[in-house]
Amino acid sequence: MVSSEVESLARTGGLGDVVEALSRSLSSLGADVVVVTPKYGVTRVPVDARWWTRPVVAPLGLGHARELGVLEARLGGGAASISSRTLPPRACMLADSQLFDRAGLYGDRDGPFTDNAFRFATLSSGALAVAEQAWGGALPDVVHAHDWHAAFAVIYARRERGAAWAKVPSIVTIHNLAFQGQTSPAEIDYLALPRDGWDAGWFRHEGSVNPLKGAIEIADRVTTVSETYAREIQRWPNGYGLDAHLRWHRNKLVGIVNGIDVDAFDPSTDGAIERRYGAADLGEGKRACKAALCAELGLDADPTAPLFAVVSRLQYLKGIDLLLADLPALVDRGARVALVGTGERDLESALLGAARRWPGRVAARVAFDPALARRVFAGADFLVVPSRDEPCGLTQMYAMRYGGIPVVTPVGGLRDTVDPVDLAHASGTGVVSAGADVASLLLALEEALALWRDDIGMGSLRARAMARDSSWAKSARKYLDLYRSLGV
Ligand code: GLC
Repeated sequence: MVSSEVESLARTGGLGDVVEALSRSLSSLGADVVVVTPKYGVTRVPVDARWWTRPVVAPLGLGHARELGVLEARLGGGAASISSRTLPPRACMLADSQLFDRAGLYGDRDGPFTDNAFRFATLSSGALAVAEQAWGGALPDVVHAHDWHAAFAVIYARRERGAAWAKVPSIVTIHNLAFQGQTSPAEIDYLALPRDGWDAGWFRHEGSVNPLKGAIEIADRVTTVSETYAREIQRWPNGYGLDAHLRWHRNKLVGIVNGIDVDAFDPSTDGAIERRYGAADLGEGKRACKAALCAELGLDADPTAPLFAVVSRLQYLKGIDLLLADLPALVDRGARVALVGTGERDLESALLGAARRWPGRVAARVAFDPALARRVFAGADFLVVPSRDEPCGLTQMYAMRYGGIPVVTPVGGLRDTVDPVDLAHASGTGVVSAGADVASLLLALEEALALWRDDIGMGSLRARAMARDSSWAKSARKYLDLYRSLGV
């Protein structure tokens, strides 16, 4: 596995959660997984991590090569790995003081780093160098690259590292097509990309070098993180310019919906929340967690008022502005609202502005705080995911796991993971709006408020949400089957 994020080491979003949880699931199914990722300045290095005795050499363009230190650790010793007979995955963190030892993964307060293409080309090249040694000299059975950062690994393996590597099957997983890693054609040689690939157009896109497009072209399989998203990206505008390219390659495009790590996210064992609870004491557990969360965030405590929450990166595509437009109506109907996230500056200030406008009713935390996120999943009655576009989305699954009810737009993985509530048939686990716009979202929020007024219905809805199986079991098997279909 090649990835710019791994949940327990360094992450900014769902990519890290998925790479770690998927790797652990595959390990528990018997696969021998090595995850390669950078060692950033902000990486939380596990105590048992050990340096390889010698650095690896990552060839790059123009005769240049970088020496990278390799720091290896087992990924997570949590409940899952203790109970299984197999070893957890190995994580190899690549150290390069110039490129990775910085206070952010992709950028800092001054904006994105300008050398990101080269940084992640180095990760990708280094990952193959690690793989050449991780199994005593044998090459891996499959290279699995995540998002554009790792796309170079697919290209290098097939085209730049000789005949043995060229035969190794490769998969690229798209976690978010909005990010493709475009960079200037002036960098082709520097990034060690094959010139004929530019001429043939397989990583050339609208005048830029597009590493994700190149990996889609030559990987044996392209996967994305939900079935619906796999269809959506083949059409304008969700294809972000690659819709035709993806349609052309549709026979190797597969949607496999993400799961979540149900051992790490379990309200009956979670040490971050006010009161632990299971299905049997769901009502009391959530009440206690909600009261504590309201106190922590400075929201007026009122058990009869529903608490809506958002935990999200603050980006246009996440549709936070849609929810902000519906806030006056929500507050007017007596709801409490908790907004948590970081991202675009104007959205951060909009959140803080809303909290100032409705003190006690709306709270905002501009923070990336995984422990707070867990307290929100446990304390919120409704978790809103107002995305315009959502490859999979994880917070709706975390919320359900904690007995919260998701209110989501009908896009991507939200559609695949939230079954619309149907009171007449006592089915469904959440509210799905008719569209990703202010008016449709308001109707969905109104539906949530109506549900809230129905005590009995709400109790059984919560129980169904909590009982939903969001584990990786099924999807990890699908990845294994995919590997096998490539002769692994
Ligand atoms: C990205 C996507 C999100 C997905 C996650 C993990 O963060 O935006 O929808 O759940 O990757 O695949």
